[in-house]
Amino acid sequence: MIRIEPIPAFKDNYIWMLHDGTHAAVVDPGIAGPVVEALDKRGLELTAILLTHLHYDHNRGVPGLLERWQVPVFGPLLNDHDRVTHPPFPEPGTVPLDCVSHVVGDGDIVTLDAPGLELSVLAVPGHTRGHIVFLERRRGWLFSGDTLFGAGCGKVFGGSMQDMIDSLDRLAGLPDETEVYCAHEYTLANLQFALAVEPGNAAVKERIEKESLKRGFGLPTLPSTIHLVRTRSRMKLKRNARSVWRTAHNSSSGICMTRSAMAASSRITGIVSRISPPCSTRISPRRSASRCR
Ligand SMILES: [Fe+2]
Repeated sequence: MIRIEPIPAFKDNYIWMLHDGTHAAVVDPGIAGPVVEALDKRGLELTAILLTHLHYDHNRGVPGLLERWQVPVFGPLLNDHDRVTHPPFPEPGTVPLDCVSHVVGDGDIVTLDAPGLELSVLAVPGHTRGHIVFLERRRGWLFSGDTLFGAGCGKVFGGSMQDMIDSLDRLAGLPDETEVYCAHEYTLANLQFALAVEPGNAAVKERIEKESLKRGFGLPTLPSTIHLVRTRSRMKLKRNARSVWRTAHNSSSGICMTRSAMAASSRITGIVSRISPPCSTRISPRRSASRCR
């Protein structure tokens, strides 16, 4: 059996650790220390690293992890646009995405032997141009990075607004029960915004109470589900598109909420597009693991 555990990092990041009790893979390790601590605490051996996009809070921990475990790093291509918009950090030659040993893109499947996982790669441009997500179809797990959060979506940095809308439409086509493991604890903030748009919405109030209870015990609100996200978005579109806009523009929460609201209120109407059948690319995690420096 494979377990998924969150490793909290920074202010509100989650690094997701998937393990079978012996071997582990981690998603978006923005920092190495907490990951090393979590692995050591459970006696786990790291076998793979998965990266969704180039932002440093998702990959800055990679070089540190590679110093101890020489494992494959699966991630998107660091393109020229990314290099211009996200210059080397903290010094030239240390861009964490340069650590990617296995560049993957839409339709690829990452197959790990230990822990046993088969992860489909979906391209979801918008937050960044090269953002990808990893989907474990059989188990219904989606590692959505900064594209899809609990009750909201990510800021649009590198892609266009239309890119983000198309990407969200695509994710909305996944089965309702798909569990969404995103990279930030933003659920309550997003729900509070939803309540500002729809002050009388009992379902939102109820969910705020439920999620607040979890946070009160120090638990994550995640995973969310595609059903929850889609229902929320559909309500915004059909009943309150104008209200969303008005609230977003009057909101003190700034551009993040404004952009999220723009995307959410545009046309996330449910099943708009289905995921295309993946190609048969099979990538062995044991192959050509490399150091990034
Ligand atoms: Fe990001």
